[in-house]
Amino acid sequence: MIDLARYPREITLHNGVTLVFRPMDRDDVGRLWVFFQQIPPEDKMFFRQDVSRREVVQHWAETLDYGLVLPILALEGDRVVGDATLHRRRTGWKQRVGVVRVQIAPDYRHIGLGTAMVRELRHIGEKSALQYLMAEVIEEQAAAVRAFEKMGFVRGATYRNFVVDQKGGLHNLHVLLYRMSSPTGG
Ligand SMILES: CC(C)(COP(=O)(O)OP(=O)(O)OC[C@H]1O[C@@H](n2cnc3c(N)ncnc32)[C@H](O)[C@@H]1OP(=O)(O)O)[C@@H](O)C(=O)NCCC(=O)NCCS
Repeated sequence: MIDLARYPREITLHNGVTLVFRPMDRDDVGRLWVFFQQIPPEDKMFFRQDVSRREVVQHWAETLDYGLVLPILALEGDRVVGDATLHRRRTGWKQRVGVVRVQIAPDYRHIGLGTAMVRELRHIGEKSALQYLMAEVIEEQAAAVRAFEKMGFVRGATYRNFVVDQKGGLHNLHVLLYRMSSPTGG
């Protein structure tokens, strides 16, 4: 079970700015779409879906199921400045593995927000009996690799020439793993 009672949750960054963390809800389509429009093309190149299309974000809002995908937003007032998602399965062999993805608005990077958002997902993962968190990062996303490693993720594997960007270029994919401190079960 995901502990939603902890939201909305205030956090204070290194620079003293206070933000609110809370799960995305159906009314967030406009502000999340605006957030994605600020993400630079080089970061968007590796997105799985075309988030420049409002209907993509609209579809997420209409099909929200926190047990499968938990999107945590970081808000400064009404503005989304960060989005971190925890993806999981209810059944099957990967039910104890959560996949994390994080995006921070360019003007909010390097002030600890990415770290705070992954820490938040780590807390949720621990409370919901996940054994591992996994992040998939393209080799060129050096900041992301560094950020995850600083948070205790270790490189589990690197797949060479494994993924293509939107222009068809091949890239190495790093799989980073975080082992939960108090795993349950096997
Ligand atoms: C990767 C990302 C989430 C990091 O978020 P952030 O809020 O800037 O990260 P933090 O401020 O918490 O920094 C954490 C650590 O990452 C490393 N880091 C952050 N930016 C970096 C950069 N540009 N170059 C190298 N290392 C960097 C630092 O080691 C930093 O720790 P430090 O400040 O103690 O030195 C953010 O840059 C981003 O959204 N990037 C584009 C999307 C992406 O790559 N997502 C990951 C794929 S799931």
